[in-house]
Amino acid sequence: MKKIILSGSTVTGDLTLGNYIGAINNWKQLQDQYDCLYFLADLHALTVYQDPKVLRERTYSFFAQYIALGLDPKKNIIFNQSHVHEHTELAWILTCLTPMGYLNRMTQFKEKSEKHVKNINAGLFTYPILMAADILLYQTDLVPVGEDQRQHLELCRDIVGFFENRYGPGVFKMPEAYVGKMGARIMSLQDPDKKMSKSDENDKNFVSIIDDAKKIEKKIKSATTDSGTDIKFDPENKAGLSNLMTIYSVLSGKSIAELEKAYEGKMYGHLKVDLAELVVETLKPVREKYDDLMKNKDHLDELLKSGADRAQVKARVTLDQVYKTVGLLKY
Ligand code: TYM
Repeated sequence: MKKIILSGSTVTGDLTLGNYIGAINNWKQLQDQYDCLYFLADLHALTVYQDPKVLRERTYSFFAQYIALGLDPKKNIIFNQSHVHEHTELAWILTCLTPMGYLNRMTQFKEKSEKHVKNINAGLFTYPILMAADILLYQTDLVPVGEDQRQHLELCRDIVGFFENRYGPGVFKMPEAYVGKMGARIMSLQDPDKKMSKSDENDKNFVSIIDDAKKIEKKIKSATTDSGTDIKFDPENKAGLSNLMTIYSVLSGKSIAELEKAYEGKMYGHLKVDLAELVVETLKPVREKYDDLMKNKDHLDELLKSGADRAQVKARVTLDQVYKTVGLLKY
């Protein structure tokens, strides 16, 4: 039996180099060895206000980006969260088991409620429970995510414990986070003390997967670095430079030590020029494939429908078992 992998991205902003390096690049590598499910978390996006027209368009755009980045809809089950209603149904059962205190500890809730002071809704608070439902519905073994999602994964594991304490074992598999060794936290380009975020208002802080070459070059060349000259990996004292080196290392496959050696005696500017070129070259075929896919929404709809149908068959099995276990009548 192959292990089951599941992960997703919330449909907000633009997918960034951070999402690619921290998550999707790993998803791509896992697709050959495991049974993988990758989805678009469109319901999670609703925890902040979304213009309906933009959300619809962005859902297609994210889906096309997943495929353009190398996720194969034949090898994996790729689907949209709201197309499989079992996610919200399981989320309700889990909501009734999760103490408020556990949700209060979530750093992402704290950050997001500081950012969206006028819309601190209950969905923002219960967001990690829906995430747990996403994972547990599919009997997931491994969840490849960036560092920022680790706490939500821990909560998901706690929720399995709450369920088992009340109803006994055997209904859910205990999932584990899979966090890459390199690039699990790509930092903002202008402000390397905070993570690169796809919903950042300042678009100079991130490289979007579908940025054109000019934009990419400009953003990387103007990335904040320190006033030193030595090209040395030192996240504490040279956060900006070290971030660029991490991106370089993951995209080129060269180790940090190799990069330090190659850039001995050279200036930060040299590294930025080369990195900009590498990012442009990496993303160029992705952009081309993306543009192509976006021309045919009917084809995207077909793929989405087929992904949802395949996901739902699996989701249904778990949800039926849960309903039976907790005492809901089933016919
Ligand atoms: P999201 O959409 O914020 O991010 C998608 C994935 O990208 C990773 N990531 C990063 N990795 C490295 N550096 C960064 N700067 C960076 N920014 C983001 C994230 O860790 C994530 O792996 N709640 C999730 C979506 C979700 C989900 C799930 C994930 C919903 N249900 C179930 C896994 C399993 C989110 O908003 O990710």
